[in-house]
Formats: sequence, C-alpha cells, structure tokens
Amino acid sequence: MIYLKTEEEIELLREANLVVARTLGEMAKWVAPGITTLKLDSIAEEYIRSQGAVPGFLGYAGYPNTLCISVNENVVHGIPSNYVLREGDIVSIDCGAVKDGYNGDSTYTFAVGEVAPEVLQLLKTTKESLYVGIEHAQPGNRIGDIGHSIQEYCEKRGYSVVRELTGHGVGKKLHEDPEVPNYGRKGVGPLIKNGMVIAIEPMINLGSKNIVFERDGWTCRTKDRKPSAHYEHTIAIHNGKPDILSSFKYVEEVLGEKSI
Ligand code: MF3
Ligand code: CO
Repeated sequence: MIYLKTEEEIELLREANLVVARTLGEMAKWVAPGITTLKLDSIAEEYIRSQGAVPGFLGYAGYPNTLCISVNENVVHGIPSNYVLREGDIVSIDCGAVKDGYNGDSTYTFAVGEVAPEVLQLLKTTKESLYVGIEHAQPGNRIGDIGHSIQEYCEKRGYSVVRELTGHGVGKKLHEDPEVPNYGRKGVGPLIKNGMVIAIEPMINLGSKNIVFERDGWTCRTKDRKPSAHYEHTIAIHNGKPDILSSFKYVEEVLGEKSI
C-alpha cells in the first residue's frame, strides 16, 4: 500500500530530512583518520536530539545505534564500533531522524584522507547514479525506470549493482511501500505519482555484485571484499517533478574543494 502524502506532510518530511542533512554536515567535520565509528555515532545522536528530533534507526527492528556506518567492503548496515578510521578508507554514513512523527533518511560516502583513484571514481559514479535515478522519478514513469537508469549508468562504467537491498517509501514509517530497486527494466513496477515520497539509495560495488551478511545479523559486505559505495536521498514527487528533501549541501560546504 503506497501512501501518497499531502503538501503539509511533504513539508514535515522536508524538516526531518533537513535534520538528517545537517547531521551529515556535522559528520563531514569529524570524518578523518583516527576517529572511531562509535564516536561519530555519539556525535550524530547528540546533534539530532539538539534539533528536537530523535534518531530514526535506533531501536528500529532492534538496531542498536543512531547511524549505520559501513567502511570499505561493508555495503550497508555496519554497526558503529571501536574501529578507527584510517587514511584511504571510504566510509558510508547512513542517517535517519524522526521529527514531528516523520522520517528523514539519507546517506553519504566519505573518503578518509587520500583514497585510491579507482575508489574515488567509484564514489563519484555512485553519487552521479543517484541523481540519474532521481531524474527518472517523474510522474507518469514507473519505479522500474529509476532502477533501470541507475543500473545502466553504473554497469556501463564497469561497476555492479547490489540486488538484495533497495530504496523504499518514506513517511511516518522509515520503510514504506514501494520498494525501489537500483536495477530493473523500464516501464515495470508501480506508477510514479505526485505525493509519493521515496528514498533512492544505490549501493554500487567495485567488484562483483554479490554480498554476504556478517554474523552480527546486520552488516552486509561484498563477497569479494572489494569496496562498495552508497548514497541516498529522500525525495518527494511534487508539483509534477522530483523534489529532493534531503541535501548534501551541508556536507559539501564542509568538504569544499575536497568534495567529489
Ligand atoms: N537507510 C537504511 C535503509 O533504508 C537504514 C535502515 S537501518 C536500520 O535500509 F537499522 F534502521 F534498519
Ligand atoms: Co533508506
């Protein structure tokens, strides 16, 4: 069941996503060699609460933290730990916040110091593919058009698309219908309509598309242990076009010329 949102609800979803966007901006100030992923998590939790919001992932299906932090070969749902970030790592920070009952959900993958050029290119392509997907989230198109465009963009450049995890509707619940795969065929899936709010989140691998789940029950990593990148925006289909409710503006202001 896909819930279409009213204008008022879309504005509330924008507020929640702004909290997430600013939290990712805070993360950009702290991501550097020497910091633990658990420290990033506690900074994010404190920041979200200071904004009159609550962490959206904490306690969700028993998830233990505020952020999902996935380093290098970890694809998504990495649990913050005592792992110390190192020069050359890539780190995906997935953040959710609930404000006035509505969810925000967005992810940015950061380079830690100097990163190998081929890995930087993976980040760049994954981020670009997110915007390609958003461009296809037009009323009258189908959900499959989004995934098809992301898959085509990434595979043409030699990368592979994770199949097991998808984007999703966003609203009062973090995960609503529809599922939004990052692969697929044109013209397939639910019709995209004004009032839909969805998270689009390509998870793109440098090597093969295969993933495995770690024994902690959450962390998902590439089978071949090659790096994986992940970017996510929550968008509304609104006034006849996609409207990005989250934002990388705060991250990119902090990163400046180091931004990819
Ligand atoms: N953005 C992630 C997702 O949509 C966050 C969910 S993590 C969870 O899957 F811990 F909350 F499940
Ligand atoms: Co999501």
